[in-house]
Formats: sequence, C-alpha cells, structure tokens
Amino acid sequence: SKVTYTDSSGRVYTVDATVGESVMAAAVKNGVPGIVAECGGNCSCATCHVYVGEEFAHLVGGPGDMEDDLLDMAVSERRDTSRLSCQIRVTQELDGLAVEIPPDQP
Ligand code: FES
Repeated sequence: SKVTYTDSSGRVYTVDATVGESVMAAAVKNGVPGIVAECGGNCSCATCHVYVGEEFAHLVGGPGDMEDDLLDMAVSERRDTSRLSCQIRVTQELDGLAVEIPPDQP
C-alpha cells in the first residue's frame, strides 16, 4: 500500500508500506523526516503525530484512550484528524493514504 507524507513545507514523500506495519514504521524505514517516534511505537511519546487526510479520516477512525491523552501533549496543534502514526496500521483499504506531518516534531 502506498502512503504519502506531506511535511509542513509542502515536501511530499511517497513510500511503499507493507500491510500490517504502522504508518510510523513505514516512515522511519523510508527515512521520512519529521516522524521522530522516540518511543519506537509504544504509544508513549507523541512524536509520531500526524494529521490524517480528510478523505481517509473516516477509514482510519479516531484515537484510542491512551492515544487520546497523548495527543493532548503533542507539541504541534491538535486537530480533529490528529493521530499517532504508530497506532495506524497499514491495510489494503488504506492504499493511497495521505497524512500531513506537523511543523514541530521535536
Ligand atoms: Fe511514540 Fe508513536 S512512536 S507514540
């Protein structure tokens, strides 16, 4: 499945993600800058924050409880489409998924 990451300056990175891995892991593996993922995907750092593209938001769904708390602590502004990318699993249906990387990911 393809995942496209757009950073705050408009640079676009499209990667081939494996079904079953997280949107965070696909970014890190392919060297997409701005997905820091300090905790390595344990849902405890909030440095893998992304904004899910509007057209995919309903497919991706909302955050879980723990993720919800963490998103409140993310450095960049939280939006309705905010998710932690380590908690989004790549699936066939999500092929073409577009996410935006927030401006300040420490
Ligand atoms: Fe740490 Fe996602 S990688 S919360």
